[in-house]
Amino acid sequence: MTSDKITYDKSSPETIQKMFSSVAPCYDKANGYLSLGLYKWWNKQLVLTASKSDPQLLLDLCAGTGDIAITFLKHLNNSKAILLDFCQDMLDLAKIKASKNDLDHQINDFICADAQSIPLQNDLVDAITIAYGIRNVRDPLKCVQEAFRVLKPGGRLAILELTRPSNPFMRFGHRVYLKGVVPVLGKWVASDKNAYAYLSKSIGAFIAPSVITQFMKQSGFTKTKIIPLMGGVASIIVGDKEPTA
Ligand SMILES: C[S@@+](CC[C@H](N)C(=O)[O-])C[C@H]1O[C@@H](n2cnc3c(N)ncnc32)[C@H](O)[C@@H]1O
Repeated sequence: MTSDKITYDKSSPETIQKMFSSVAPCYDKANGYLSLGLYKWWNKQLVLTASKSDPQLLLDLCAGTGDIAITFLKHLNNSKAILLDFCQDMLDLAKIKASKNDLDHQINDFICADAQSIPLQNDLVDAITIAYGIRNVRDPLKCVQEAFRVLKPGGRLAILELTRPSNPFMRFGHRVYLKGVVPVLGKWVASDKNAYAYLSKSIGAFIAPSVITQFMKQSGFTKTKIIPLMGGVASIIVGDKEPTA
């Protein structure tokens, strides 16, 4: 496939998989520059939110190069994690990173699969995270329903996404950043045209937190809430699966 043929098309998972394969080598660097380093703090907030009830087993969906799982395992050092992503190149990088951090023994599995059809049994994991991933999934409701199925009663789903700030001044600054700064930074960071096209498009592809909460409620989650980060530049959307009586 040539660079020019790649388009960011949610209705075609194959193009998304290929795109992530092509951005995998520069993904971490791009994430760091384009979020101005803030992603580490956002990731930590996600992990803290997901860790409220001291989960022993985390499932990180759309795990990418493994940052969320690694942050989680460092935070709760007796816990375990399963990483799932449908892009093998991303998972390969996650494996290397886990090894470098000496965390291999705390990772039960690296699963290459679609988050809309999770190849795990019901009521298995204590917590699920999805960071910057749900906006890429073709049917986000299906993904949230699958998360509900594999969560143990009493478990928690925490989703981190880039969002649009509600304050008009911040919204204006945010738009200037997306339209003016991201293309320049993106061109500089991403070594090839595919990666650059993905970065520019994906960073502007938002899914409203209220839509995600709606999906969570529809799937059976309770106590849903939206936690805006830095005025809503990113948000954590959280919901719990009720414990059985
Ligand atoms: C923007 S990256 C985020 C990676 C990681 N969560 C992080 O915090 O950096 C999105 C990831 O979601 C994965 N992904 C997108 N759609 C998916 C799907 N339907 N099933 C599984 N993984 C998916 C991509 O392969 C990619 O690794």
